[in-house]
Amino acid sequence: MRTAVRLTSLNPGADLPDPAFVGRLGRRLRLELAGEVDDPRVSRRSLLAAAGTTAAAAVVGGIAGVAGDRLIAGTAADRELVPAGAAWQPVIAASAVAAGQAVRFSTSSVDGFVVNRGGRFEAVSGICTHLGCRLQSAAGHLACPCHRTAFSMEGAVMWHVLPQAPPALPTLRTRVRDGQVEVFA
Ligand code: FES
Repeated sequence: MRTAVRLTSLNPGADLPDPAFVGRLGRRLRLELAGEVDDPRVSRRSLLAAAGTTAAAAVVGGIAGVAGDRLIAGTAADRELVPAGAAWQPVIAASAVAAGQAVRFSTSSVDGFVVNRGGRFEAVSGICTHLGCRLQSAAGHLACPCHRTAFSMEGAVMWHVLPQAPPALPTLRTRVRDGQVEVFA
């Protein structure tokens, strides 16, 4: 059986998600985004987590593929991500993010980067909008280790080797209180 699994994995396209699964996931995401739930056993959180690790972005026309509950692709303002039940949360000391740097943070609902842009703090999702790989902070950009795609600190796609550019990264509402960077997540 082990040999059979290995041989199967060598087939072209074996690393792609099952089309039937992607179809079901796309239908559920569309229902979720329309405010409906077709299966009460599937939580919104688990559904969106699954979306972050599959080709869901392609399924729903570039809207999904990120952790969170509301997202509209488009301008930077439109890309704001607001998870369900969001609240202001301190994620890192402002002094720990040097100018021009991006530092990773995680909350129970979001994995992202706090970026210091000349003393102004912003936050973007740390999950690649292609297939959900965790991005890495590199020199001046956020790099996806899966398919050599790079996003700017603001979340725009800088370069990629995909047939089609993935959507820009969602942004998060950010503020500084008592020396702590807080995100609305
Ligand atoms: S997961 Fe494919 S480019 Fe990031």
